Amino acid sequence: MAKKHEHGFGIDIGGSGIKGAPVDLRKGRLSDDRVRIPTPQPATPEAVAGVVKEVLDSFGWDGPFGCTFPAVVQHGVTRTAANVDPSWIDCDAATVLREVTGRDAVLVNDADAAGAAENEFGAAADESGVVLMATLGTGIGTALIAHGLLVPNTEFGHVELDGYDAETRAADSARERDDLDWEQWGERLTRYFSHVENLLWPDLIVVGGGVSKKFEKWSPYVHTRTTMIPAALLNEAGIIGAALLAHS
Ligand code: BGC
Repeated sequence: MAKKHEHGFGIDIGGSGIKGAPVDLRKGRLSDDRVRIPTPQPATPEAVAGVVKEVLDSFGWDGPFGCTFPAVVQHGVTRTAANVDPSWIDCDAATVLREVTGRDAVLVNDADAAGAAENEFGAAADESGVVLMATLGTGIGTALIAHGLLVPNTEFGHVELDGYDAETRAADSARERDDLDWEQWGERLTRYFSHVENLLWPDLIVVGGGVSKKFEKWSPYVHTRTTMIPAALLNEAGIIGAALLAHS
């Protein structure tokens, strides 16, 4: 990916917190400590945009910025709201962000941002083939990158599996809800990833989300044909990826 800018700004909108920091786009890392402000409730587009403005103001960042959102984002319009406030469905969120913050915003799906960052600077930096990034959290987010090119808005967390929306069975929130031990959760992940790898045949699977920090605890119970590795950028992948996609 050719980078036109050396510095950018990334914001990661999550269900519980909105985080942001300036990003060094050559090194793929934050150039200052990130700021985190709790996500307002209800998390309507206007309320969230107000917090995004606070984050930008706290760094005195006046330029354009990249921003993640945990749903499908087509050309700045948020299309779905699986785990977020329904008022985001078909909202011209990039325009709301621009009007409220006074800066140009590039809005992207959260897993796409994480995947782009891991592909450029993190766990998949050495893989030139097809990379599937999967983030395991409240939901399952996916990013598909082939030979460095991201296909945006893949939603493989929502494939139907055994009659269920897959993320409701295999996300980290399902592990917590059903009080699964690592082995039981590993069985569900094996079922999930086997299905997805049979559809996509990736060369590498990168797993992100908070639980990827405990990769060594559960990965022995996940059996896939494809090599699976944990994300490297962890909490910062969304911020770095948002800045990368906005400024490249
Ligand atoms: C959403 C995706 C999102 C993922 C992770 C899913 O429920 O449909 O768009 O990437 O959760 O936040």
